[in-house]
This record gives sequence, C-alpha cells and structure tokens, in this order.
Amino acid sequence: MQLNKLVNLSAIFLGAVILFSSCQKESTAVNYTASEFDELSKSLNLPGELHNYSIEIPTHNNPMFNGSSIDPSQINRANHTATLGRVLFYDELLSRNGTVSCGSCHVQTAGFAHNEALSEGFDGETTVRNSLALGTTAMGLTTSYGSSNFGGAALAGFSWDDSIHSMEEQTQAAIENPAEMGMTMEDMVERVKSIAYYDILFRKAFGEDEINEANVLTAISQFVNAISSNESKFDEGLNENFKVDDDFTNFTVSENLGKTLYNNNCSSCHGSRHDFTVKAVANNGLDQVYVDQGKGAITGNFSDMGVFKVPFLRNIELSGPYMHDGRFSTLEEVVDFYSEGVKSHTNLSFELRGNNGEAKRMNFSDNEKNSLVAYLETLTDEEMIRDEKFATPFGE
Ligand code: HEC
Ligand code: HEC
Repeated sequence: MQLNKLVNLSAIFLGAVILFSSCQKESTAVNYTASEFDELSKSLNLPGELHNYSIEIPTHNNPMFNGSSIDPSQINRANHTATLGRVLFYDELLSRNGTVSCGSCHVQTAGFAHNEALSEGFDGETTVRNSLALGTTAMGLTTSYGSSNFGGAALAGFSWDDSIHSMEEQTQAAIENPAEMGMTMEDMVERVKSIAYYDILFRKAFGEDEINEANVLTAISQFVNAISSNESKFDEGLNENFKVDDDFTNFTVSENLGKTLYNNNCSSCHGSRHDFTVKAVANNGLDQVYVDQGKGAITGNFSDMGVFKVPFLRNIELSGPYMHDGRFSTLEEVVDFYSEGVKSHTNLSFELRGNNGEAKRMNFSDNEKNSLVAYLETLTDEEMIRDEKFATPFGE
C-alpha cells in the first residue's frame, strides 16, 4: 500500500516535471536537475528519484512507537539527508588513507555487522571488540532514549560497554578512532569539501555552505537510524498471531519449539518480541575472569565488571561471529554455551543462575538445541539485507 502511494505520488511528480520544465524532459532524475544528476552519476549509482527513508514500525512491535519517525512535511529534505548519509556511510575517502568506510565493518549482507571476530581499521590495526549489527527495529529510537527504562523495556546506549549515548557521538567516535577511520573531524570536513558530489548532496540536504562537522554527523545518523528490520519470518508470525507465546501458524514444529525454549530461557534479557531488550546490560557468564571488563572499565564499579550490552538478536544468523570478542563462530556454539557452559562469575545475572545460586545448566537435548537455532534463524530479514536503499552507492 505504501509502495502504491509512493508510485502514485511520483507519477504526479514526474508529470509535473514533464509539463513545467522542458529542460528536465529527458531526465528521469525527479529530485535533481539533469546536470546535477550527470555529475552525481560520474561516481555514484544513486536513483534519480529519492528512496523513502522514513521508518514504519509495524503494529506488532511496541505500540508506543508506531508510525513514521519523520514529519511528513519534511520528508523530501529528510530523504535527501539520509541519501547523503548513505554516500558518507560507504565512502572510503572519509578514512585517513581512503581504505575504510563504515560499510567495511557494518556489511549489509552480514546484518550490518562484520563476519570477523575483530575488524581491521584503515592502517591494519584491529578493533578491540566485535562489530555490532545495525538495523534493529529500535536502533533509531535508542538515539533518543539511551540507557533508559520504561514499560518493562530497557535500552542500552551504543557499544558493547553501553558508553555512547547518541548516534552522532558513535559516528564521530568511529571517524576519529585510530583503529577505525583515523581522521580528525576537521580533516574530514576538508576532505568532504574537496569532493564534487558532496557539493550537490549537501546542498540538497542542508542548503548552501553547509558542509560542516555537525551536518556530516546528522546525515550519517539519519541513514543509520533508517535501517530497520521488521520483515523477518518471525515478524510475519507475530503480525498474524500477535501473541508471542502462542504457536505461530507460519512456523515449523521445530521453530515453534525453539520459540518456547527461547521465551522461557532467553527472553528475560533479550526480549520476546525483538523490538526492545528487557535488560539493557548483563553479565552472561562467558568467563570466570574477563580480559575486557566491558561496562566496568568505563564506570569502575565492581558490579559492572564483565557486564556488557544485551545485544539485539535480529539477523543473528548473518552477523557472526558472536559475543563482544567474537569467540563463537556459530549459533550452535552459542546454544551449547548457554546449555552447559555458563560460568559462575560474581556478577552473573540472576536469570542465568539456578536455585543454588550457581550457573544454571539448561541441558538442552540435541533436538532442543536444533530447534533453538531454527528459531533464531527466523529472525533473518532478507528484505533488509537486499534493500537497495541501504546498499553501497559506489561501484557498478
Ligand atoms: C574498523 C571497523 C569499524 C568501522 C570503520 C566502523 N565501525 Fe561501527 N563498530 C565497530 C565495532 C568494533 C563496534 C563495537 C564497538 C565497541 O563496542 O567497543 C561498532 C559499533 C557501532 C555502533 C553501535 C551499535 C550498537 O548497537 O551499540 C554503531 C551505531 C556504529 N558502530 C556505527 C558506525 C558508523 C556510522 C561508522 C562510520 C562512521 C562506523 N560504525 C565505522 C566497527 C567499526
Ligand atoms: C542474563 C541475560 C541473558 C540471558 C538470560 C541470555 N542472554 Fe544472550 N546475551 C546476553 C549478553 C549480556 C550478551 C553479550 C555478552 C558478551 O558479549 O559479553 C549476550 C549475547 C548473546 C548472543 C550473541 C549476540 C551477538 O551479536 O554476538 C546470542 C546469539 C545470544 N546471547 C543468545 C541467547 C540465547 C539463545 C539465550 C537463551 C538460551 C540467551 N542469549 C540468554 C545476555 C543474556
């Protein structure tokens, strides 16, 4: 329906352009002049008609946040801003030696994570932790609610240690991090000013003379916040059944068993509807002694040692390896760990402790383990990972 509306709208738009502007007759570039579009097309593979980047959170997700995130009267401007953000996100020229972009470590086909335990930055130095997936339904919302609690839903800030509280801040940290892009914001703005396509893209998004640090961060954030996943098999099931504890009609027997096991053993932290996590941060007993103390390294509090962000599990099948250090390569290993490998760390969260206070042993059978993995795989959103509006505009 939304698509139909869009098509109708653009037909009217196109009609108007053909009627009133003879110089644009040959161009299919609804949102650019012919010469702007020619210039952009020298380096970029952008559509002449803007993609729609407003986020529609479906009704089966948290009803508090239904509706579009963008004021309808601002939609054209917002789509220009997200389009600029898309180019910046994939532009390797934003790193010190032109080799790495956000998209190098946040890969669309990997659920916007990276299939390496640690990722290489611009000069071969590796990141300290495993790249986190982008494109969870609530990502855009996390920006404004970082580290808060409401209605039983918890949201951690960004990064495994919960230390960053806005998308803009996270973006700046990636640009400046010597193990990631290794730039200063000043140099980055100079770099952007020297590239012809940005002249056009910034003008469309922000107006004349608006290439500056704040707008670079705003544009990238607008793009990242628009990446949202809500068309997985799980979403279809939830949408049809609404009650998350009932068997889903579109699930196999195994997927439904996996869902029950997950709802009984995992959802108290990761959440059953995959719109919000229930706990923001926790220790899940990976080790008795941690090399990386996570949140504890930031706060210095004893109770935060070995405590990490509870990650979203959307697209988890694609985003391995798993955990903050990428120690597990497969979901089978993750499930084995929860079944019989949880360690009794001092800060181990109560959800993972048995009645005796020691680390709980879930002792899943092989059939149960396979079912849990089958369930986790229903969280894969093929639409999001194929969606052209989130893909690189460079090349081809
Ligand atoms: C060299 C690899 C690399 C590059 C380049 C990179 N990232 Fe990341 N990103 C990571 C890693 C690793 C983490 C986890 C960091 C941590 O927890 O300490 C992360 C975390 C994030 C998060 C937090 C997600 C969450 O759920 O908490 C966001 C958002 C993000 N990156 C966006 C970006 C953007 C935008 C860019 C480009 C400006 C970028 N990243 C560039 C590796 C990278
Ligand atoms: C006490 C809260 C808690 C419970 C219960 C819990 N988890 Fe986790 N889970 C976490 C935390 C915290 C992490 C990140 C830990 C780290 O990297 O140090 C995590 C990480 C994961 C990851 C890796 C995610 C990624 O992006 O790398 C998967 C997969 C996962 N959990 C699945 C499960 C499953 C399946 C269950 C139930 C069998 C479960 N979890 C139960 C807290 C929990």
